[in-house]
Amino acid sequence: MSVNPDEFRAVLGRFPSGVTVVTTKSADGSDQGMTVSAFCSVSLDPPLVLVCIEKTASVYPALTAAPGFVVNILSAKQEQIARRFAIIDIDRFEGVGFTRSSSSYAILDDVLGVLECRRVAMHDGGDHTIILGEVEATRVESGAPLLYYRGGYAQLEH
Ligand SMILES: Cc1cc2nc3c(=O)[nH]c(=O)nc-3n(C[C@H](O)[C@H](O)[C@H](O)COP(=O)(O)O)c2cc1C
Repeated sequence: MSVNPDEFRAVLGRFPSGVTVVTTKSADGSDQGMTVSAFCSVSLDPPLVLVCIEKTASVYPALTAAPGFVVNILSAKQEQIARRFAIIDIDRFEGVGFTRSSSSYAILDDVLGVLECRRVAMHDGGDHTIILGEVEATRVESGAPLLYYRGGYAQLEH
């Protein structure tokens, strides 16, 4: 049975997710970041998470070479941040407020949660690579999450 690509995308779009911006640094020390919805918790002990990164993404070389990365979980008010960190060929950090993790990666202002990760494994995933991170530090804030569903942004209704 073959899989129709449009229907495959449509089915995947029925699975709502949160939205993150994954940050790291390239070898020259410049900040790198991209919008990522393919984020998942993996293990509590040890604390592990994964992100799936397209092999052609501009941030891919940095994410697969740097010793670690930060997962910034976006709040409902950060749709513009999600859009910005997926725009090609701009300085995504320009005008964006952030502080730095202990490894000096960007922690974006006003995010709902932060996971500072050390990269511990990579697995081939077709046109993506599955990057496994061990969580070394966390931060949590209250608020509503930004959601991604059927190709658009959404928010929880209460
Ligand atoms: C809501 C949303 C979710 C995304 N999720 C992922 C993802 O999980 N993995 C990934 O590799 N790219 C994901 N992307 C795409 C990258 O953010 C984007 O392709 C990339 O940053 C484009 O820039 P580049 O061409 O400079 O790599 C997502 C984009 C958006 C808008």
